[in-house]
Amino acid sequence: MAGIPFDQREGVIWYDGEYVPWSDAKVHVLTHGLHYGSSVFEGQRAYGGDIFKLQEHTERLHASARILGFEIPWSVEEINRVCNELMEKSGLVDAYLRPVAWRGSEMMGISAQHNKIHLAIAAWEWPSYFSPEERLKGIRLDHAMYRRPAPETAPYKAKAAGLYMICTISKHEAERKGYTDALMLDWRGNVAEATGANVFFVKDGALHTPVPECFLDGITRQTVIELAERRGLAVHERTILPEELSSFEQCFLTGTAAEVTPVSEIAGTFFEVGEITQTLMRDYIAEVQGGAEAKALRKAS
Ligand SMILES: Cc1ncc(COP(=O)(O)O)c(C=O)c1O
Repeated sequence: MAGIPFDQREGVIWYDGEYVPWSDAKVHVLTHGLHYGSSVFEGQRAYGGDIFKLQEHTERLHASARILGFEIPWSVEEINRVCNELMEKSGLVDAYLRPVAWRGSEMMGISAQHNKIHLAIAAWEWPSYFSPEERLKGIRLDHAMYRRPAPETAPYKAKAAGLYMICTISKHEAERKGYTDALMLDWRGNVAEATGANVFFVKDGALHTPVPECFLDGITRQTVIELAERRGLAVHERTILPEELSSFEQCFLTGTAAEVTPVSEIAGTFFEVGEITQTLMRDYIAEVQGGAEAKALRKAS
């Protein structure tokens, strides 16, 4: 079990324009976002006091809200400023930040045209674990029981709370069977992603990863593709069939929380934690820490 419950921590949360004590940052039970999933969020990380790709995350938050049909009443610049201010106010250096926007409780029903749009941002300490020994064992994935829905059946480009329903069910089922996570197929039966991270495979010195046409094109995914190309590695974004899994030598997940996490097994198909995976793990850590180093240099000069 985790330590202190998330609603009982110390500190402050930025909530609709002001800082409130952590345990007072509440919503009413008749909140539209809670009943109908009209909520979008971000997950971003700070390394050495610098929030990695903050601009990209905040732009995605705004884009997610627009896809769900609402406008966040704070600009990207204002949200960026609050994220940095919250870090300073909370004395955080290595941290996770969770901005979340949702429709309030003025109307209760499917239609919520006039509901207030709320925004809250919480941040908590999250050390940059890079314990290679643990990570290098790789994690074990099961096959997920649910598939990623077709693009015309879900707003897949939004990081929207409702899309995580099938992820939590699938992850719980995998955990119940002793796995860490689950690999989701898409609606056609092709490989898609894990429940909260994108997936890559390695074969003959090249990377292979599914095309993000029904799931999030993760900011970490895009970063890792750039890092791989900088190393001169070929990256093939293509349809990947589940029958191909056994032909791959290595597999890893990418995500803000996962960073680059090696996978050792997908339901009986085994992978080695090879050189390319390890190189990209190191390159990713160097990349995310680069911002902190640049900030420290700016401060010192
Ligand atoms: C379902 C899902 N896919 C992919 C990702 C990876 O996205 P990112 O690299 O932007 O964190 C995440 C994490 O946010 C996720 O929840």
